[in-house]
Amino acid sequence: MDKKAFNKLLSGKKCVAVVCNQWGDTGKGKFVDLLSSWADIIIRGTGGANAGHTIVVNGQEFIFHLIPSGILHDTDGKVNVLGRSVAFDPRVVIEELDVLADNNVKVNNLKISHQAPLMLPWHIMIDRIGDKKQKIGTTGRGIGPLYSDFTARHSLFVNDIFNRDVFREKLVKFFEDKKRILSTIDKGVAKEVLNHPHLCNGAFFDEKDILNIDAIVDKYTGEFADRLKSYIIDLREYVDQALQDNKNILLEGAQGTLLSIDYGTTKYQTSSDCTIAGLAKGSGLKEQQVDYVFGITKAFYMTRVGNGPFPAEFGGSQSEEYCAKGITKDEEKDKYASQIDKLMESDDDFEIGVAVRLLGGEYGATTGRTRRNGWLDLVALKHAVKINGHNLSLTKVDVLDKFKQIKLCTHYKYTGPDIFYAGKNLKTGDTIDFFPRFSEILYHCQPIYKEFPGWQQDITKIENYKDLPKAIKDVVDFMEEYVGAQVDVISVGPDREQTIFKI
Ligand code: GDP
Ligand code: IMO
Ligand code: MG
Repeated sequence: MDKKAFNKLLSGKKCVAVVCNQWGDTGKGKFVDLLSSWADIIIRGTGGANAGHTIVVNGQEFIFHLIPSGILHDTDGKVNVLGRSVAFDPRVVIEELDVLADNNVKVNNLKISHQAPLMLPWHIMIDRIGDKKQKIGTTGRGIGPLYSDFTARHSLFVNDIFNRDVFREKLVKFFEDKKRILSTIDKGVAKEVLNHPHLCNGAFFDEKDILNIDAIVDKYTGEFADRLKSYIIDLREYVDQALQDNKNILLEGAQGTLLSIDYGTTKYQTSSDCTIAGLAKGSGLKEQQVDYVFGITKAFYMTRVGNGPFPAEFGGSQSEEYCAKGITKDEEKDKYASQIDKLMESDDDFEIGVAVRLLGGEYGATTGRTRRNGWLDLVALKHAVKINGHNLSLTKVDVLDKFKQIKLCTHYKYTGPDIFYAGKNLKTGDTIDFFPRFSEILYHCQPIYKEFPGWQQDITKIENYKDLPKAIKDVVDFMEEYVGAQVDVISVGPDREQTIFKI
């Protein structure tokens, strides 16, 4: 990595953010870890343990779900913060602290916002049982139910676990409401769901009411509160002071813009705003206070975990159905790894997708599920750039090193019934160049591609933009022009060092 170019990019900036322009899993963890050497403070602003951020340091892999990805720099005195819009699950934070301790990383500088909404056992339980009907393919971490309660003004907050009476009073009151939902659940099913390690292995099950309020109060205001009390802060005050002290602040986004509750593909989305707007707010800042946004963009393919429309998916609905079966990485490897060269050159897009998944290691960090994949969709990217700004960081470009040809989706062909959309009457056969975020429309959008020759060369050791193959630079030029954005960074491998700066 060219350290001079890295410093040049960050020169004069006090607050930068890492945000995903797609459906998540684009390499945010790697970028946060990389930028942690510059930052004094790293803040996770949104999402919860649905995130899975992978960091590779000297070949060793760490996956964080809730604790910020800058945590490995804690030993250098860097402060990692869990922000005010994070779906705060105390069990996960404690588990991650324990894993870090097992790896000899003693955490001294973690901070937690006192007003993050608190994950409760009924959120996780309802998520797990409810998703069987809704078929969104959630991560089962309680995210939708938690944010629903938050918006409905039925939330408990981190601060409550340090006030036993307040905690109990709120819990009992909200439980009265939850009982109506819980009474519709079969007791056997409830018991089985509650037996999961994410729900403390059945510690909260109650034969009569399904959930045992006393057990929840004890766990949250006892063990959880004892372990976490020393980390609690008022984030607003903390950030104001940090800005006055001229500290460098790094915001770590979770999920991706196409999953955002405000801008993502309807129904098949998460429940927080994963854009720069949501991230800044969740970090105790205003969007205008962010000097630079790393718009992380997997290229020149993309992925999606769970269900929902994905116009440029390799193999379309065949891939969606295949990935929904819950096939594991090992099963896929056993079946296809030996044929990878053949798959890469297949006429069947589904097979190309299998090759890309194997080469890119596209298996969920949180759920282990096969990630659906497809060519990079510039229509969707244009939508994300309008929200997050025009500075792009491309990741995983090395994954396509061996491909003879690559494609970019530049338009959609609408193939559904006549429908009104934002002042336009869409008819089957229409070509469109905008991103209709309503899933019932997007499911009827077929990709139109522009083809480019591949570079067929190993780029994982290249350090400077000028040394990248011309074939890559041509695609970069085209996408910059088409999307109205500028590519500043290109990542050519999971390691910190495998990062190229274009500026
Ligand atoms: P996140 O959720 O956005 O942090 O991304 P994930 O960690 O879920 O998935 C990204 C995966 O790609 C991780 O396994 C990273 O180690 C890996 N990765 C990140 N950047 C690159 C890259 O440029 N090339 C390759 N080959 N892998 C990368
Ligand atoms: P990171 O931060 C990819 C997806 C789930 C599901 C939908 C709703 O690692 O990029 P939820 O559990 O949030 O209610 O699930 O959102 N999803 C993610 N996909 N990366 C993530 O996070 C995701 N977090 C949630 O698969 O489709
Ligand atoms: Mg991830």
